[in-house]
Amino acid sequence: MDIDVEKINGLRQGIIPFHEPGLQQLVHAHNGQTLTFTTSMFDAVEWSDTILICVDTPPNQDGSADLRAIETIVRDIATQASSYRLVVSKSTVPVQTGQRIADTLKRHGKPGIEFDVASVPEFLREGNAVEDTMRPHRIVLGAETNRAIEQLRTLFQPFSAPVIVTDVTTAEMIKHASNSFLATKISYINAIANICEAVGADVTVVATAMGLDPRIGEHFLDAGVGYGGSCFPKDVSAFIHVAQDVGYDFDLLRSVQNINARQKHGVAVKLEQAIGQLRGKSIALLGLAFKADTDDIRESPAIAIGEDLLNRGALVRAYDPASMENARRVFGDRVQFGRDVYEAIEGADAMVAVTPWPEFDDLDWPTVHRLLKGSVVLDGRNIWNPAVVRAAGLTYLGVGR
Ligand code: UDX
Repeated sequence: MDIDVEKINGLRQGIIPFHEPGLQQLVHAHNGQTLTFTTSMFDAVEWSDTILICVDTPPNQDGSADLRAIETIVRDIATQASSYRLVVSKSTVPVQTGQRIADTLKRHGKPGIEFDVASVPEFLREGNAVEDTMRPHRIVLGAETNRAIEQLRTLFQPFSAPVIVTDVTTAEMIKHASNSFLATKISYINAIANICEAVGADVTVVATAMGLDPRIGEHFLDAGVGYGGSCFPKDVSAFIHVAQDVGYDFDLLRSVQNINARQKHGVAVKLEQAIGQLRGKSIALLGLAFKADTDDIRESPAIAIGEDLLNRGALVRAYDPASMENARRVFGDRVQFGRDVYEAIEGADAMVAVTPWPEFDDLDWPTVHRLLKGSVVLDGRNIWNPAVVRAAGLTYLGVGR
């Protein structure tokens, strides 16, 4: 159920409103059968035993989470449910929101109707959503009654993954702790990358060697231009806020945020060091999405980098395989767009890769050399082999190598 009529009508016809590998096939396979779409809250509530709340919780001005969408939905569920319902929060919410949901249900529910509240945090990654959903690494079921736990166990029974059954508050904390830890890992390796650059070491080798220690693990140690997306930036600030509300100053996470901000803004600085003042220079920006395999540009480092370049008076021509339409809404005609990598780089003084799209992996470097006016290739995601780029007569700059 969604209140967006256009989205629901589209979904009924199998039109997926965003780019997500494998999702279209999955929806097609079940549409109109085990999967139906509605804009009617009444029908949705009437029809279900378990209700999963998946609305967004955008950040308020002060970094705390805006829970208005959740509040509205919970109130509707409360006033419309005619018998027991299990209300599950899948949205990322501040710890103790479960208690708030329970209070709202109690306040607005019809007399004699019982509710249970659960927290089943979502760990899927954009661009990998179907795979992560079908083959999760763990399933966390946070609930307070046996009835709720049994109902959730049945719902998640088809998935083979370790199941952690716990209380609602602990489940909510698991989500905060996991996402903030991943963001911390990224900022940590980005800090290491900056030191590597200063001392002449290679962060990619450092990360590989670190990752072989199972206590550290190989994932999320890719240095780059910083993390983005609809989750990490928002979740880290929300967690700082949650901690502050209970009297704990989470200064570690504030540093994680600062390192990430510096990493994004470091790109323009690095370019300036390489080619001088950016005013009037043309820069090709490869990638706009916050990561590959998505058209999502929310909090994308590419957008911040684009703005930095424009603020310094550079002319920017961008290319992204999936998110140019979204980026056009942000940049308007302040940025030009190329139809492919080669059109984007033609005549540019430098090129910068900010999203690791697989199609950027194997560029024809002699052609790049011919098309670029300048020679600087700034690889913001360490996707290219420096030796290959240099062999084509170009100047390679990576992150921490
Ligand atoms: C994240 C969590 O991974 C997921 O578990 C949670 O449910 C939602 O938030 P997502 O935002 O889709 O998922 O993307 P993710 O793959 O985690 O990447 C987030 C950002 O970190 C991207 O900008 C990515 O480029 C960056 N990143 C990731 C790095 O800079 N280095 C890495 O090593 C990994």
